[in-house]
Amino acid sequence: NSPLRLGIAGLGTVGASLGRLIETRAEALANKAGRAIRTTAVCARDRSRDRGFDSSGLAWFDDPVKLAAEADIDVFVELIGGSEGPALDSVKAALNRGLPVVTANKALLAHHGVTLARLAARKKTEILFEAAVAGGIPIVKTMREALVGNDVSRVYGILNGTCNYMLTRMEKEGIAFDACLADAQRLGYAEADPTFDIGGFDAAHKLAILTSLAFGCELDLESVFIEGIETVTNDDIAAAAELGYRIKLLAVAMRTDTGIEQRVHPAMIPADSALARVDGVTNAVAVDSDLLGSILLAGPGAGGEATASAVLSDIMDVAGGTLRPTLGMPAANLAPYKRARMRAHEGGYYIRLS
Ligand code: HSE
Repeated sequence: NSPLRLGIAGLGTVGASLGRLIETRAEALANKAGRAIRTTAVCARDRSRDRGFDSSGLAWFDDPVKLAAEADIDVFVELIGGSEGPALDSVKAALNRGLPVVTANKALLAHHGVTLARLAARKKTEILFEAAVAGGIPIVKTMREALVGNDVSRVYGILNGTCNYMLTRMEKEGIAFDACLADAQRLGYAEADPTFDIGGFDAAHKLAILTSLAFGCELDLESVFIEGIETVTNDDIAAAAELGYRIKLLAVAMRTDTGIEQRVHPAMIPADSALARVDGVTNAVAVDSDLLGSILLAGPGAGGEATASAVLSDIMDVAGGTLRPTLGMPAANLAPYKRARMRAHEGGYYIRLS
């Protein structure tokens, strides 16, 4: 099989992680996809920065639209960010060529998802976006694949890692809002403009995408009620704690008598609930549906490797086609569990959980 050639536009935190993973996991990925995965073209402002992978043989572009329209690639990976300008134009250029697009860009999808999905369908290609919602948590695939036969009544959760990180540190360490935000920026969690995080807009973008998948309706950002965490103080958090609650920025989409309601706002939730215990940059998404009842998925909601993991899963979907990883792949090193190991752990089965 011919290698799958990637064009990656944007080599920031996520793009650089992706570049490294494609290089360091080349063999394992090729085994699972049935073909090699190669980065062949990239676009980034600074060519000289060392990003931890070999970029010497790559075609470098200054303009993402040119990369999308002209490079010898099979997939266009958009990791630029922003809902307009180069991100939008390059994704359109790739789809117009009939290329599949993989993106982590929730703002782009929230504003133009309907148009882009229709363009992709017209061009008989697809736009994949696992990384756009809740970072590394596989909620998009869960919604589109595993839950596809369910009737969903509610989707809710913590969809912004920056806000959850800030609220957690404000509560546990008594640190002020601005200092927590500065740390979230330094750690690479926050958006380029952190107003998107603390104002609730980033969570709203992700919620609008989830709602569309969960309820099978057209994505509609305009109808999301949005309130951020800018006015939440350390005193509010302490007062809520005294009453047995924790404050979280919640995103909720639910079926009501009058239609599907979407909202993002700070909420007091009982301290002993599973969602209240989700701390730091972790995201969590709960889904209530008829066949499955309630499920909760939690995991890293931001950060280079976690988000690149989701991007990679979409790339593997494109690479594998019908050849998805299955049960007959070449064996890795299997280590049969021996009863002798059990005895070594004082006669009981043992697993370290943290
Ligand atoms: N700024 C986002 C967050 C990044 O903090 O959740 C992941 O989408």
